[in-house]
Amino acid sequence: MGVGVGFGKVILFNEHFVVYGIPAVASAVGAKTTALVERKPGAGHELRDERPETPGYKAEKLQQQKESLEIMLKFMNIDTRHNHYVITLGGDLLAASGVGASAASCAAIARAFSQELNLNFSDERVNEVAYEGEKGYHGTPSGIDNTAATYGGLIWYRREGDAQHMERMRLRKPVEIVMGNTGKVADTKIVVAGVKERKEKEPERYGRIFQDADQLVRNARKQLEEFNLEKVGAYMNENHRLLQEIGVSSPELDELVNLARDAGAVGAKLTGTGRGGYMVALTPGRDIQDRVANEIERHGSQALRTSIGV
Ligand code: MEV
Repeated sequence: MGVGVGFGKVILFNEHFVVYGIPAVASAVGAKTTALVERKPGAGHELRDERPETPGYKAEKLQQQKESLEIMLKFMNIDTRHNHYVITLGGDLLAASGVGASAASCAAIARAFSQELNLNFSDERVNEVAYEGEKGYHGTPSGIDNTAATYGGLIWYRREGDAQHMERMRLRKPVEIVMGNTGKVADTKIVVAGVKERKEKEPERYGRIFQDADQLVRNARKQLEEFNLEKVGAYMNENHRLLQEIGVSSPELDELVNLARDAGAVGAKLTGTGRGGYMVALTPGRDIQDRVANEIERHGSQALRTSIGV
């Protein structure tokens, strides 16, 4: 039996912009997806998905998940004609939009096969497999989700053509965050395609917004490294505004973002695909974290209390 893990992630700056080569910052969160691979007599493979989920998520992603698995098996050169593989997904990461659930499962599956078949995959190889797997979920992944899912930690990420650059970032100490779940499932393929279409229709306006996003993330990096959390929070608020401008927020996300700010978060924004899924609030200190999480829960939404920079 082979086992593997993939980390859940939160994008702190520049989801969507990252697809076009603009840098972004992401961090692993405390929750993980695990994969177990068992070899049985027979042929073929089956996937048992035992992850906790936002209602409807697994059913909605089932076809993409199947495609993703086929792509990964082919990419890893795994022949399923002489063995039957049972792949079981589990762990404490909620299968939901915005937390890198698909990428975490891809990295976990790559690691589990590597262990079961003694393939000795390096992290780099796991990341390559997970990147291929992500293509099953959306056609043009930037690679940030699989990179965060594979390596964990806090990362600065940029894609340049086919090349992917990742730098590790360090925080002076871990900082509490709250992630609020709208409970809505979003399709990354559709949301990413929507940005592309609008960008082509309004090149000048989008060009300006993209330039602002590029400058913003560089400033935000400096403030993160200097541990100036008030300023980091202000940049998160500004990043949310830019994401609203490119049409990837939603009334549910805006409501949770406003609620978190009113409850004392130093900054809040949508995270990941948008149009549903999660938002993230920067909440340094347990008191602020509890206040914001309680407010989100009182509103009827699920809140994940975790930290970045661990
Ligand atoms: C999804 O978690 C992040 C997006 O930027 C897509 C990508 O980077 O591939 C929306």
